[in-house]
Amino acid sequence: MSDWSRAVSARPAEPLASGAETLSGNRGLQIEEALIFEQDSPGHCGVDFADLPPFACRLGGIERQGAIGLPGLSEPQVVRHFTRLSQKNYAIDTGPYPLGSCTMKHNPRLNEKLARLPGFADVHPLQPVSTVPGALALIDMLAHWLKTLTGMPAIALSPGAGAHGELCGMMAIRAALEARGEQRSRVLVPEAAHGTNPATAAACGYTIDPVPGNPQGRVDLDVLRRKLGADVAALMLTNPNTCGLFENEILDIAAAVHAAGAFFYCDGANFNAIVGRVRPADLGIDCMHLNLHKTFSTPHGGGGPGSGPVALAASLAPYAPLPWLVHGRDALELAEHKSGPAQQAIGRLKGFHGQMGMFVRALAYMMSHGADGLRQVAEDAVLNANYLRAQIEDELSLAFPGPCMHEVLFDDRFLKDTGVTTLDFAKALIDEGYHPMTIYFPLVVHGALLIEPTETESKASLDQFAAVLKALAVEARSGDVARFHAAPRLTPRRRLDETGAARRPVLRWRPEPANS
Ligand SMILES: Cc1ncc(COP(=O)(O)O)c(C=O)c1O
Repeated sequence: MSDWSRAVSARPAEPLASGAETLSGNRGLQIEEALIFEQDSPGHCGVDFADLPPFACRLGGIERQGAIGLPGLSEPQVVRHFTRLSQKNYAIDTGPYPLGSCTMKHNPRLNEKLARLPGFADVHPLQPVSTVPGALALIDMLAHWLKTLTGMPAIALSPGAGAHGELCGMMAIRAALEARGEQRSRVLVPEAAHGTNPATAAACGYTIDPVPGNPQGRVDLDVLRRKLGADVAALMLTNPNTCGLFENEILDIAAAVHAAGAFFYCDGANFNAIVGRVRPADLGIDCMHLNLHKTFSTPHGGGGPGSGPVALAASLAPYAPLPWLVHGRDALELAEHKSGPAQQAIGRLKGFHGQMGMFVRALAYMMSHGADGLRQVAEDAVLNANYLRAQIEDELSLAFPGPCMHEVLFDDRFLKDTGVTTLDFAKALIDEGYHPMTIYFPLVVHGALLIEPTETESKASLDQFAAVLKALAVEARSGDVARFHAAPRLTPRRRLDETGAARRPVLRWRPEPANS
């Protein structure tokens, strides 16, 4: 039975293949886990199936002839394998997760409990609408909260992520322009934007025109004004922006965009810094996506299932994607087709109505916090980032001086002439038991380190983190470069060849040749 370690059972000739300084290849109680296919013990099975009674095959010869190729494993082997894999996962439930721009929020267990209520968890998207009034009421209530918090009259709930929400918003803008008989071709995107912004605009057929920032880390309003023209469809601006700063000229920005006849799209991924404090509609925004996993604590989907609702101004509301929830005479109804009030809808972006499980969690978060609680969440996020900034700004180099919003941006000047790079610094943090911050983003500062301390981190937790960051910065400047270049030293894997992985990805497992 080869259920234990890759080093011992699968590759006895290479005990140090992973860089581990042990005979077994394991490190402490971290097991050097083999792939499940490498653990194959032919003949083992976790289930005893009764012999099939005789039957007449009606597949006409197309039935599988050979074995399906699954590895042979007993139930304990399977349990150990997946338990070990789960323990290799770093998460906000394990420790601080200061990944800037990603807002790794605590997922309250209350949300999880409510999402698992059978009435929500078991609802099937193909059930007749008449059998799911509770689910529709919940969606309606969530939309009401989002409309109240954004000040916008319409919410499209079906998009499955922030980037999907961007697509929804830009398609609505394109449809509105077409309805006006205008063929505008350019979308202005600040240089600090998340990559999904220009990608979305390009996917909608627009040319991207980058807008540089000013020395204060915000959009340069004069340049923006010069770039605006009759061919500009929209500005896509993130606020607070990806440098962790509030765009304090946003009202003038909105006025300039509207004066040019363009739409003001806001990337609302950072809404967690201002929710309950300011309504995007009051800033002149026409359209904004919200990442429920960032502001409203639903789990990050890891590629899905996520949820990125889009708030729309009255000028864009007619183009919201199907289905629409409408208040019928007696009950809530779903408009599923481009007719009646939904005649100008852009069509469907996703099957059914969106991610019900995420809707339940987000609404549970809102209702358990209440309006004042949500406001405090934003205030705590900003407070935590500024507390951390104040603790470490003397040792690291702040990219833009002064207070920040929910995340704080450093550049690599504090590592100048040390031989240590931003990447080395981040890897050394892993050895200290911390997930690194976001690095090399945004691109507008050199060697960026973007730190977002979740608002639920305590003062004690922030103090510990600050102490580690300061000590590492001192160490980097003391000349112990080797320690940084070797990092991470204490993980199951040492530093990976990331360029090789990107250029020559191994996407498929193949068994090693029998004689190797
Ligand atoms: C500023 C910003 N915009 C857009 C996105 C895209 O959101 P999603 O990952 O949900 O597609 C992100 C995600 O990190 C972001 O930080």
